[in-house]
Amino acid sequence: MLDTMKGLKRTHYCGEVDGVGNEVTVCGFTQRVRDKGSLIFVDLRDRTGIVQLVFDDTTAAEVFEKAKKIKSEYVLMAKGLLRERESKNADIKTGSVEILVSDLRILSVAQTPPFEIVNDSKTNEELRLKYRYLDLRRAKLQENLIMRHKIAKTAREYFYDNGFLEIETPMLMKSTPEGARDYLVPSRIHEGKFYALPQSPQIYKQLLMISGFDRYFQIARCFRDEDLRADRQPEFAQIDLEMSFMDVDEILEITEGFVKKLMKDTLHIDIPLPLTRMTYKDAMERYGSDKPDTRFGMEICDISDIAAKTDFVVFKGAIEAGGSVKAIVAKNAASILTRKEIDKLTEFVKGIGAKGLAYVRWNEDAQGCSFAKFLKEGELDEILSRLDAQKGDVVLIVADKNKVTLPVLGALRLKVGKQIGIVPDSGFNFLWITEFPFFEWDEESESWLAMHHPFTMPLEECLPYLDTDKGKVRAKAFDLVLNGIELSSGSIRITNPELQEKMFKLLGLTEKEINDKFGFLVDAYKYAAPPHGGLALGLDRLAMLICGADSLRDVTAFPKVKDASELMSQCPSTVDDKQLSELHIKTVLSE
Ligand code: AMO
Repeated sequence: MLDTMKGLKRTHYCGEVDGVGNEVTVCGFTQRVRDKGSLIFVDLRDRTGIVQLVFDDTTAAEVFEKAKKIKSEYVLMAKGLLRERESKNADIKTGSVEILVSDLRILSVAQTPPFEIVNDSKTNEELRLKYRYLDLRRAKLQENLIMRHKIAKTAREYFYDNGFLEIETPMLMKSTPEGARDYLVPSRIHEGKFYALPQSPQIYKQLLMISGFDRYFQIARCFRDEDLRADRQPEFAQIDLEMSFMDVDEILEITEGFVKKLMKDTLHIDIPLPLTRMTYKDAMERYGSDKPDTRFGMEICDISDIAAKTDFVVFKGAIEAGGSVKAIVAKNAASILTRKEIDKLTEFVKGIGAKGLAYVRWNEDAQGCSFAKFLKEGELDEILSRLDAQKGDVVLIVADKNKVTLPVLGALRLKVGKQIGIVPDSGFNFLWITEFPFFEWDEESESWLAMHHPFTMPLEECLPYLDTDKGKVRAKAFDLVLNGIELSSGSIRITNPELQEKMFKLLGLTEKEINDKFGFLVDAYKYAAPPHGGLALGLDRLAMLICGADSLRDVTAFPKVKDASELMSQCPSTVDDKQLSELHIKTVLSE
């Protein structure tokens, strides 16, 4: 028979016991039992920490007997005297005290868990995810989820204090193209019709501005059926904002206020404002990425003018085809980036679209240059001097179209930076990227797509290019980047219905498609709309970076794995035929 809590009431959380000499009552899970015969120690754990329970020769016999039965993960309630500990443990908060137990209740017993509930668990992640409720007992994951709670709390406090209204938007909505694939929900009542789960509340928050709510805020759940990676879950949360009568500067400013408060409240770090801003063009040219990690240098340098003079056909060919020759310098890296390592890097760049990798490896003995035989007297020196390269450095060069050289060198910069150990693992480099292109050319469909979304306002000065040179149209769109990870995206929206229709058409939508997909939105803007814009910060990514975690899985209570399944409940799963027939659905499985 299990005990009950009758007559006892928790006075303290385990990690917060105080008042030596007083009686305290704690509850929690058994972390560890050490039975030394006439002395039993039990580490009791709750979400605040661990406290030591002691049973000794002064303990009543029936309490001592019961203590002998305690095993790992049993749920206990214990009352006793809080006293100074003889051998103190400086590693835990309550390491200088212990509870000499006078009343012990075993409230629940546990089977032997499939893995030990310890912080640095060596158990493989798959097994831990299968028993996620046990994995979540680990202190690290508890800390992460508590931190996530603090982030949400800080967001609510800040945006409430700044006049934002929290308004919920539907989970069942119309399927509208937003970039990723929709998760669809079949309608029982409307045969053959589907709702979509929101990829984001984008359309609704714009409509709320049209309705006059002026400042909207929501911690919104979003669903996207896309390829997953460490910083992508199929369902995730956004701190979602929209505000009227504000242009880019004010929106960035109000967001920066949040970032400052957040970093102070969570990590006690003072982030200097304003945050650095960089245009998309600069970010691409200097770092080869629209989300550069600026915690280290190794910026991309253009050597096209020198390369054009050489007899190296790879360089000349790229430039003649309208491309460029660009380089990064890995400082003092010649001993790490051996020929063999450079071969691996060559394979890496080939895997991401480059034709090859030229290099100069300047070690003690020589300037090992992969294209030396194509150079005339002095040309290598000119390249090295342009790049400010010295003995010990390795120069890595890519020649191709800009569309290739920049992202390839951007990815190479990150890889080499990590390999040679120059990416600091501490520090928070927030950075705004502004003036994104409105359109991006999609090679696969051979058409222009919206880089952000089709409701994004182009910069006024770029409006003339809409009909003449789409590639030149920059938008009032901005991303917030932290340590190389995109934290948020946002923009000023188009409020002029004619311009909106024009943008839809430029994106290749027919009148019918516009009406079918966005008719209600286009109509809404005909009834007057305040100028407005907004952004969404990825709550999960924020939590991941603030917790120093490697994956969103570590800051999500019940995450999905790479194939979008959830290992504990094993969803997605089949449903019975009755459910399917109610939904008018027949499944056809691929062979
Ligand atoms: P966007 O699609 O860029 O913008 O999303 C905003 C932020 O949400 C986070 N995010 C994700 N986090 C985890 N898993 C994912 N699969 C995932 N996808 C996105 C990122 C990202 O920066 N409606 C617009 C915002 C706006 O314009 O107001 C939007 O959703 O941190």
